[in-house]
Amino acid sequence: MTFRDLPVFRDLRSFARFLEQGKSLARISEPVSLVHEMTEIHRRVLAAGGPALWFDKATSHRGAASMPVIANLFGTPERVAAGFGVRLSRIRELGELLAALREPAPVDGLKDAMNRWPMLRAALTTRPQNVARPECQSQSWLGGDVDLGNLPIQTCWPGEPAPLITWPLVITRPPDSDAEETARMNLGVYRMQALGKDRAILRWLAHRGGAAHHRAWSRRGEDMPVAVAIGADPATILSAVLPLPETISELRFSGVLRGERPRVAQALTIPMLVPADAEIILEGFVSATETAPEGPYGDHTGYYNCVESFPVMRITAITMRRDPIYLTTFTGRPPDEPSVIGAVLNDLALPTMRRQIPEIADVWLPPEACSYRMAIVSIRKSYPGQARRVMMGLWGMLPQFNYTKTMIVVDEDIDVRNWTDVAWALATRMDPSRDLAILSGTPIDYLDFASPDPGLGGKLGIDATNKIGAETRREWGKTLSMSEEVQRRVDALWPCIAARFAKGLA
Ligand SMILES: Cc1cc2nc3c(=O)[nH]c(=O)nc-3n(C[C@H](O)[C@H](O)[C@H](O)COP(=O)(O)O)c2cc1C
Repeated sequence: MTFRDLPVFRDLRSFARFLEQGKSLARISEPVSLVHEMTEIHRRVLAAGGPALWFDKATSHRGAASMPVIANLFGTPERVAAGFGVRLSRIRELGELLAALREPAPVDGLKDAMNRWPMLRAALTTRPQNVARPECQSQSWLGGDVDLGNLPIQTCWPGEPAPLITWPLVITRPPDSDAEETARMNLGVYRMQALGKDRAILRWLAHRGGAAHHRAWSRRGEDMPVAVAIGADPATILSAVLPLPETISELRFSGVLRGERPRVAQALTIPMLVPADAEIILEGFVSATETAPEGPYGDHTGYYNCVESFPVMRITAITMRRDPIYLTTFTGRPPDEPSVIGAVLNDLALPTMRRQIPEIADVWLPPEACSYRMAIVSIRKSYPGQARRVMMGLWGMLPQFNYTKTMIVVDEDIDVRNWTDVAWALATRMDPSRDLAILSGTPIDYLDFASPDPGLGGKLGIDATNKIGAETRREWGKTLSMSEEVQRRVDALWPCIAARFAKGLA
C-alpha cells in the first residue's frame, strides 16, 4: 500500500524482530509466573511507556511454559501505529482512508477511496492466497489429544476463576456462507475462559460480529464452526479491533494494511479458513445451546465484571508453528493495552467524525474514563446553540458515542487532550443553570453498574464554549493575550534571560 512507511510484517515474529531492533522490545529471562506476576510487570512497564515484553521463562503450577510469551505488544501509541505500518504522525492519513470507506453513500465512498488510494481496490477485491502447508499447522493435536493446559494462558487478577485467553482473534462466518468466502468472515477479539482441556467460554458482547453470527447459526439449531488465532501479524490483530464498516471483511482489510494478500489455509477439523502465518490456532464448534457462567474477570473499567453466561466452544484441534510464541495482555483500570489502542483509534476516527460534523476541530475520549464513557469535543463555533447540535449529532449518528455518558464541548482554542485547559473552560465559560443538557433513558454500556438500569441510563452534555448571540445577555470576557510586538521583542531577549535563569540569577 502506498501509505505504508514500514516493512511488511507477515507474522508476529517479524514484528517482534522489528521492535527489538528499534529497542522497543525487552527480553525477560527470569522466571515469571503466569499467575498475577506477569500482569503486575506488564502493568508497571505499560504505565512507564516501556517496551514490548518477551518472557523466555513463563511459569505456572505445571512448571516452565513450553513457549515464550509476548505481552505489551501495543503498549505505546507508536507501536500501535507501527502495527498499522505507519509512523504515529501519519495515523490521521489512515483515518482519511477509513472515513472514505464509511461515506454515507457507500458506493461513492468506495469509489472516492479507490481513486485516492488506487491500491485499495486491488487489495480489497483480491482473494487471499491459499497456502497448502501453512506454518500454523506445523504441529497439531486433535480430538482427545487437545489440552489447553499446554498453552501458557495467563491468570491476570486475584480471585479470577480460571486462566483467560486475553488476545484471541475469533474468526466466524455466517451459516449461509461458504468456508472459502473470506469476504464474509468476521474477526473480533473476545476473551476466552478456559474450561478444562478442550472447552472454553467465548465472551462476545451482544452487539459484536461474532455474537451475530452465533445467533444466526443457533436459529438453525446448528453449532457454529469457529477458529481462534493466538498471535498473528499486527495488521490482522489490529483489523480485528478496528470498527470497520460491516461490508468490509477484517481479513481482507488486513491485506490493505499489510500491503500483502492475506495468506490463509484450510483448517484441519472445521469448515473454515485460518490465517496461515498465525502462531497458534484453536479450531472447534461453539454450541448452539450450551452456555456456562463466565467470570468474574478484571475488565477495562478497573472492576471485576459480574458473572454471566456465555456460549461454550468445544475445541477439536490445536495447531501451531514449530516454535510458537504466545501473545497475551491484561485488561484493567486504564492505562491497559486496549486503552492505548483506543487512543490511536480515536485519532483514526477523527476524519470520519469531521465528515459528519465539519465544525469539529478535535475529539478526545480520555483513556482514564474507559476510552468511551467521556468525550471532550472542540468546535469552530459560529452560531448560538451549536454546541448542543454537535452533542446531539455525535450521540445520534456515531455508534462509538452510544455509551458516552458525559460530553464536554469547548472552543477550538482549548486543547481537548489537556485537562488544565478543559478545567479552565469549564470554570470560565460554563454556567450549570444554562449549559447542561441532561437526557435520561438512553442506551448505556450494560457493564456500567452506575446506571440505574442495566443498559439504560442518562447522558450529560456540558456546553463549555464561549456564549454568543442569544446565548447570553452579559458582556462576555475577552481572553487575555500579549501583543505580537511584545512577544517578538521578548523572543529576541529570551536566550539571554533564559541563560541567567538557568544559572539561578533570574
Ligand atoms: C485485548 C482486547 C480484549 C477485548 N475483549 C473483548 C471481549 O471480551 N468481549 C467483547 O465483546 N469485545 C472485546 N474487545 C473489543 C472487540 O474485540 C472490538 O470491539 C472488535 O472491534 C469487535 O469486533 P466486531 O465488531 O467484529 O465484533 C476486546 C478488545 C481488545 C483489544
